[in-house]
Amino acid sequence: MIPIQSISYPIFFENSLQELHKFILESKYSKVFILVDSNTEIHCLPAVQEALKDIDYDLIEITPGEENKNIDFCIGIWRMLLDFGAERNSLLINLGGGVITDMGGFAASTFKRGIDFVQVPTTLLSQVDASVGGKTGIDMDNVKNIIGTFTQPKAVFINTRFLKTLEEREIRSGFAEVLKHGLIYDRSLFNTVKMAGPIGLTDEIIYRSVEIKNEVVKEDPFEKSLRKILNFGHTIGHAVESYSLSHDRKPLLHGEAIAIGFICEAYLSSKKNGLRQAELEETVEAIKAVYPSYNLRKENYPALLEIMKNDKKNNGGQINFSLLSEIGKCGFDLYCTEEEIFESLDYYISM
Ligand SMILES: NC(=O)c1ccc[n+]([C@@H]2O[C@H](COP(=O)([O-])OP(=O)(O)OC[C@H]3O[C@@H](n4cnc5c(N)ncnc54)[C@H](O)[C@@H]3O)[C@@H](O)[C@H]2O)c1
Repeated sequence: MIPIQSISYPIFFENSLQELHKFILESKYSKVFILVDSNTEIHCLPAVQEALKDIDYDLIEITPGEENKNIDFCIGIWRMLLDFGAERNSLLINLGGGVITDMGGFAASTFKRGIDFVQVPTTLLSQVDASVGGKTGIDMDNVKNIIGTFTQPKAVFINTRFLKTLEEREIRSGFAEVLKHGLIYDRSLFNTVKMAGPIGLTDEIIYRSVEIKNEVVKEDPFEKSLRKILNFGHTIGHAVESYSLSHDRKPLLHGEAIAIGFICEAYLSSKKNGLRQAELEETVEAIKAVYPSYNLRKENYPALLEIMKNDKKNNGGQINFSLLSEIGKCGFDLYCTEEEIFESLDYYISM
């Protein structure tokens, strides 16, 4: 599997940890830092240590979980960088899932006006999505990714062997983004992914999924147009995720919430963007086959709408959607009324 070239950096697949080693030796950084959470420290750091045997580095560890992707933990990272004497010419290696790659990317892109960072994604979700494309960020007041930057990493190193220690629920969460890449861009990928299911995913599927994400972000790095299609399912999905984070004892994972968004937004696609009924049903079936239903209640609708109103993608006070016209094709900058949004939530409940 040859490296994929992104906007300004390579995405390595094969021998990726050896490539990381080579990259560090060639780049001559004054200091190297590795950011982990307590899970990636146990499951992923040993392989990285083995590959980087002759490289000195300092370790920064944070507590895992979306609830910690916030300014307080980010200050913790900045403080550690300062205490360890990080300079402009330092490198931060983000070794973890999307929380680590997003928050580590944000901390690096703002520390001393920006130091280099690379992504070593260790969850399915971060491999096929979060580590590619240069969106960094943190949440605030339960609004997802509301603070952040567009900053490209210097390289991405994907090693699918890391997925072996990932919990099945986390695989299912990442699977949502793989399904999305098929739904918005590649009908034949969607067919393959649907058949494979979360535990049948192959390296080839993961590679193709990264290729799609990369093709889209290369075309439109700052999300002025085409990149918006990656937000399919995310307007409602993010609202459900934020709501669940602040209300549920066991909150939904990102992909689980986005899967709810897919059903609602596939419904809106059929109302507003010509998605045929048969393809709406096919989409819903593919999602229902993998994700348990979530107890969405009518009395939560106003709170969900409030969250959607804060979405970064909105324009002129209208709530912005990316909606399928068919499986494999997606439009963007489509607006739905509150009534239509509530109808789509009703549709989810009726499923
Ligand atoms: N920047 C982007 O373009 C983008 C795109 C999609 C999602 N995201 C963000 O990604 C985040 C979700 O990412 P995630 O699903 O990877 O969550 P995560 O980073 O919280 O990781 C999930 C869990 O798996 C553990 N873990 C990680 N790697 C492991 C491994 N190899 N073995 C065992 N356990 C491991 C983590 O410690 C954590 O407990 C969200 O914050 C979302 O907003 C960003």
